[in-house]
Amino acid sequence: MNDSSATATTRRAHVTGWGRYAPSQVLTNADLEKMVDTSDEWILSRTGIRERRVAAAHETTASMGAVAGLRAIRTAGIEPDDIDLILLATLTPDYWMPSTAALVKEAIGNTKATAFDVMAACSGFVYGFATAQAYIQAGLAKHVLVIGAELLTRFLDYTDRSTCILFGDGAGAVVLSASDEPGGALGIELTTEPQGAYMIWLPAGGSKAPPSAGTIARGEHFVRMEGKETYRFATKTMATTALESIRRSGLQPSDIDLFVPHQANVRIIEAVAKGLDLPMDKMFVNLDKYGNTSAASVPIALAEAVNEGRVKVGDNVTIVAFGAGFTSGAVTIEWTADPARGIAGDAAVRPEDVSVRLPVDWNSVDPIPEALAEVMRRPGSIDVPDDVAPGEPERVRREVHA
Ligand code: UT7
Repeated sequence: MNDSSATATTRRAHVTGWGRYAPSQVLTNADLEKMVDTSDEWILSRTGIRERRVAAAHETTASMGAVAGLRAIRTAGIEPDDIDLILLATLTPDYWMPSTAALVKEAIGNTKATAFDVMAACSGFVYGFATAQAYIQAGLAKHVLVIGAELLTRFLDYTDRSTCILFGDGAGAVVLSASDEPGGALGIELTTEPQGAYMIWLPAGGSKAPPSAGTIARGEHFVRMEGKETYRFATKTMATTALESIRRSGLQPSDIDLFVPHQANVRIIEAVAKGLDLPMDKMFVNLDKYGNTSAASVPIALAEAVNEGRVKVGDNVTIVAFGAGFTSGAVTIEWTADPARGIAGDAAVRPEDVSVRLPVDWNSVDPIPEALAEVMRRPGSIDVPDDVAPGEPERVRREVHA
């Protein structure tokens, strides 16, 4: 840590900033009907999802994370260089190395922070939040930026209707700040159950199955999932994990004003509400607009809930997630920040003003999967920007928009 002003007496981690970013391109259920054998009726009734966002060719996990992160910093009313730790949760990093957090550090203009990625799949943001709280409690950090950012649409098999309809792209972030005041992050619960290791996984690209023509031919570079097993795990673990976090906070479920659950499937969220004997109006749901954005889902939902006036000072909020691993995590927070700050924070940062540096010898490729590009080319379908990316070779523009 480079900031010596964090001391052992500043032990509570308060959420002081929050921000989110969703790409402008929308992929609807009707668009998916043109790609795989599915229907709006099936997707909506089985998942609650109506549409999801798709990152444009020039966008990456780092670029989306940097926009959400800067928005959270503006909401907190601090400067990028006030951040002394950046934690970025993702399962879709820009590269295997360096960390996406390191790219974000440069993109937001921070010169001081320690930066690293957190990998716990869809629970990653909650794991990052818990890590940030531990750094703050230990007196090792004063302001921590925790980001959840995902670009899943480049890791999906658009011939597999059981997975490609579920996921979308986006980023959300919070700033956690050290304070002696009461409130902030209270009880935490994190679990890892490796018997679920192959229930949601991406087989190739790691040291076990390095990328090759064979792994690509077999589609092993795409997300795979056993939906039913995952569903069973999720409904059980989300309720028990949330309950443990609430218990460790010295509270009861009825003391919680708002739950912000991982946005995977509205039926899972309904089951959690039932398991905790709570009405659905205590559950924040926005998956109809974004689908499952994995590690980005909880921070996008949290920022949206606060900006929509669903949280006020003094409220108890429980964030809870589950994901590949299997992992799960929950944190209960006593909200202390002025909820009105978030809208101005979001408006203060324009995506076009944030850029992630490219390597000098970058041989640019069209990163959009062919099946998606096909739908994007259809008139009247999802929004195609006029420009791909400032500074990218002309060749890319022709490939994407020809
Ligand atoms: O962040 C964690 C990520 N993962 C999850 O949260 C996933 C948790 N699981 C789920 O949300 C659900 O299991 C799904 C939404 C993935 C699937 O819903 P389900 O009610 O469990 O459906 P199912 O897998 O039992 O499939 C029922 C039928 C099958 O047809 P048959 O065998 O009954 O003829 C599937 O082939 O629905 C079929 N099906 C589809 N039909 C139309 C599967 N996907 C689709 C589709 N459109 N997209």
